[in-house]
Amino acid sequence: MRLDRYLVEVGLGSRSEVKQVIKKGLIKVNGQVEKSAKTQIREGQDQVHYQDQELTYQAFYYWMLNKPAGVLSATQDSSSKTVLDLLAPEDWRKDLFPVGRLDKDTEGLLLLTNNGPLAHALLSPKRHVSKLYRALVAGEMTVEDQKRFAAGIAFKDFTSQPAGLEILEVREGRSEVLIRIQEGKFHQVKRMVAACGKEVTYLERLAMGPLQLDPNLARGAYRPLTEEELALFEDLALPL
Ligand code: URA
Repeated sequence: MRLDRYLVEVGLGSRSEVKQVIKKGLIKVNGQVEKSAKTQIREGQDQVHYQDQELTYQAFYYWMLNKPAGVLSATQDSSSKTVLDLLAPEDWRKDLFPVGRLDKDTEGLLLLTNNGPLAHALLSPKRHVSKLYRALVAGEMTVEDQKRFAAGIAFKDFTSQPAGLEILEVREGRSEVLIRIQEGKFHQVKRMVAACGKEVTYLERLAMGPLQLDPNLARGAYRPLTEEELALFEDLALPL
């Protein structure tokens, strides 16, 4: 790719900013000052330095975010803060997006990436990548509800695939449960609980397929996926 595009891709600045940097003679390619923005760079082969700092090219980015309530799972919004607004300026890229949507009031695991095929595979109902949630419920969840979840619940617009319901605690008209679903329809967990005549009062996503929310990641914080986490996707033959 062209040198100016390469420098934008590695996050050095906007197209016009990197052009200035090139003109000033601050970029070296394979040890030689390079003043032409049009020079072709072979990613992964050519060594590119900015003021003696090596720039490494990365095509795909993967961030694990612990989404807090009150933030939209979108890339931009005119009135509300979005999950992309939680990134520091140096980590923000315009091609990043959240993989799937959590409701504004839902917290927990959200993957941010610019890898479209991976996102598609994680969300495709055909792949059966399960999503695990912890929910607090107003009402007492029962063995009957577990059976309804396991059979799949029919709504007007879709019938859910069989889902798992594990009851962690039931006390004084309230329940804490783990719910595992195969697809990710709009408000799916809340609608499945509502179909049992109860109401989700708090929802947190704990896992998406093999990827688990890091318990040490504070609410609102994010970090890159580790090599081990990326290997989990590789094991499922997901496109990285
Ligand atoms: N199901 C819901 O109801 N809400 C979410 O945010 C995610 C799954």
